[in-house]
Amino acid sequence: MKRGVWATRLGFYLAAIGSAFGLGNVWRFPYVVAENGGGAFVLLYLFLVFLIGMPLLVGELLLGKVERKSIFSAMRALSQRSSSLSLNQDFKSKIRQRIQSVLPGIGLFSVFVCTLILAYYAVISGWVLHHLVQMVLTYFSGDLFEGYNILEKLLQSAWMQIFYTAVHLGLVTFIVARDIEQGLERFLGFMMPIFIVLLLVLAGRSMSLESAPEALRFLFYPDFSKLKASSLGQALGHLFFTLSIGFGAMVTFGSYLREKAYLPMAGFRVATVDSMISLFAGIIIFPLVLAGAQAVHGPELLFQAVPVLISRVEGGVLYGIGFFLSLYLAALGASMGLLETISANFRDVYRWKRTKAVGIAAVLCFILAIFPALSSNLLRDVQIGSMGILEILDSVIINWLLPIAALLGSQVVLYFISEKVKLEQFEDHENQAPRRMYSHWRLVLKWIVTPLILVALVLESLEVFGVL
Ligand code: TRP
Repeated sequence: MKRGVWATRLGFYLAAIGSAFGLGNVWRFPYVVAENGGGAFVLLYLFLVFLIGMPLLVGELLLGKVERKSIFSAMRALSQRSSSLSLNQDFKSKIRQRIQSVLPGIGLFSVFVCTLILAYYAVISGWVLHHLVQMVLTYFSGDLFEGYNILEKLLQSAWMQIFYTAVHLGLVTFIVARDIEQGLERFLGFMMPIFIVLLLVLAGRSMSLESAPEALRFLFYPDFSKLKASSLGQALGHLFFTLSIGFGAMVTFGSYLREKAYLPMAGFRVATVDSMISLFAGIIIFPLVLAGAQAVHGPELLFQAVPVLISRVEGGVLYGIGFFLSLYLAALGASMGLLETISANFRDVYRWKRTKAVGIAAVLCFILAIFPALSSNLLRDVQIGSMGILEILDSVIINWLLPIAALLGSQVVLYFISEKVKLEQFEDHENQAPRRMYSHWRLVLKWIVTPLILVALVLESLEVFGVL
């Protein structure tokens, strides 16, 4: 089977940045920042994006590029190859072989996390779609905007939630079932410029509200006493989520890269653009949160803040349409990346046709999505503490499963791909010092990324068990 390759270099960037840019930046980043006290968390987060996120991103792309497979098959290939090579039977190599035999399990775990994420991502995408539809209806009916309870109505209706989730997944399936270049590249190429312009215009609007200075202070002035023990884990989890690390997504994208592509630069660009978009989202949302006067928080923050803008500025409904349209396109792009990742694994393992793999993955996600879709209505009473199913899923997947997946993935890249193969990926005619760059990267993965993720997991556990 011939493997598709990105038609253009821009194609890769659009897809990688397109998959990084999504609800994570606009919906999740602001509420996680709000929950962790603002400026200090933003600073910690940005620092970690470059210290931890970038090296991991390069690692995942590298795994995909050298193996030319998606994560599960890549892991399986690594596990088979090295064990047949080593005839050595001392204790150390026995342990090594044991670990090698579980590598496919790590791949499987990543695909599982990816599937869970798409399931709950589709529900939130449904919220966005619902808002877009309501805004358009308000605009054309010429009614006065009274949209503070748009979300409320949706949350209470099980059928509406399921309907919007299904429509979203159906749309994503339709686009992804076509081929990689035609589907992903063309779509992303056309929607990226729309986002950027809309974000800039909306940031300008928000900055003209009188709550803007206070919002900027909240967002950028660090007060470290506001950080919690779990903040480190939350920052890491969120940055993995938003940069799409730990899902095997970048492994799949890396596998479509051309031979010549230079990985460190790719990692740097994706991380930078993604963080800028998150900061812009913060600049748009926080003035609105503060102007709204009601105490808003949690996953509903974005959907309660934006109607404030709509009701305060002239022509607000049009801004609302613009905002939810661009957000929906971002959610669509990210969902496409997630479905592509899951189905690419099915195709590599079972040799299914593209349409079959995509269809089965989509049905699986839809079945899983029913639970978070019902979390605010039929299954309202299923709670732990004050968290419903949706919030529990969000927290378990992002603060726990993702850091674990990222940690395992980085160990595989560190210890199960040969030094020579990795070093080759850092060689580039423009780059004079590949060896130095390579050893920095390895050093950071081994001595900073690994211990920091472990510390974050320990701190989170301590907080859960009430020790901290
Ligand atoms: N990064 C996306 C966001 O911020 C979500 C996401 C996570 C994703 N993993 C992915 C998108 C894999 C595409 C592929 O919303």
